Amino acid sequence: MELKGPLCYVLDYDDIANYAYQTAKKIKDSEWRPDAIVGIARGGWVHARIQCDLLGVKELFSVKVSHWGVTATKDGKAKLTCPLVGDIEGKKVLVVDDITDTGESLTMAVEHIEETGKPKEVRTATLMHIAGSKFVPDYYGVEVTWAWEIWPWNFYEDLTALIMKIFEGEDIKELTTPQLKKHLREYNNIVLSDEQLSKVKAHMGYLEKIEYPQDKVWKLK
Ligand code: ADE
Repeated sequence: MELKGPLCYVLDYDDIANYAYQTAKKIKDSEWRPDAIVGIARGGWVHARIQCDLLGVKELFSVKVSHWGVTATKDGKAKLTCPLVGDIEGKKVLVVDDITDTGESLTMAVEHIEETGKPKEVRTATLMHIAGSKFVPDYYGVEVTWAWEIWPWNFYEDLTALIMKIFEGEDIKELTTPQLKKHLREYNNIVLSDEQLSKVKAHMGYLEKIEYPQDKVWKLK
C-alpha cells in the first residue's frame, strides 16, 4: 500500500544496543583503537557514549551540527553550530553519529575536526547507513534502504511532528485515538500501543500542541 507520508520505523533501546555492538565489533575486528570519541549532537550522543563503553574509551567530546529541516524529510541545510572543545592533537579520533543519510553532518563534522583539532587520524561510525548515501562511514552496524528511523531518544519529538503533519494533511482540528491510529498506519506505517499513544498525547498536551487533559479526542490548540 502506498503511504501518504514517509515510511517510519520505531526503534527501541535493544535495537540500538544491537546496532552499536555490531558497529563496535567491526571496529575491533579492524584492529583500530580510537584514543578519543567525538559525538555529533544531538543524534550521535547516545551512540557515542555507548561506543566509549564498548571500545574502552575515556575521552568523549562533542560538536553540534544543526539542521534546518523537518522530521522525516531529506532536505534541510546543515550548519556547524558548536565547535570542538578539547584536546585531540595527535590522537586517533572516532567521530560518531546515529545514521548516514545525506551525509552532511558527518562531512561537516569531520572537516571541522581535521581543520581545528590536528588529530593523527579520523574515522567515522554510525549505527545505520542508508544505501546510496554520499558519505560512507568507515564503520556502521547495518545498511538499510531509506526510511525515517524513530530513535528511542527522539520518540516524543518525532511522533509529535508526525501527528502535527497528519492534522495538517487531513486539514482537521480534532481526531479520536482510533482515527489517529489509522492515520499513523496509513501515513507512516507506524503501529503504537495504547500506552505509547497515551504517553504521546500527554507529551503533546505538555507542549501545548493539543488541549490537555482530554480523555477521548486529540484537539489542536
Ligand atoms: N537523520 C537523518 N536522516 C535520518 C533518518 N533517515 N532517520 C532518522 N534520523 C535521520
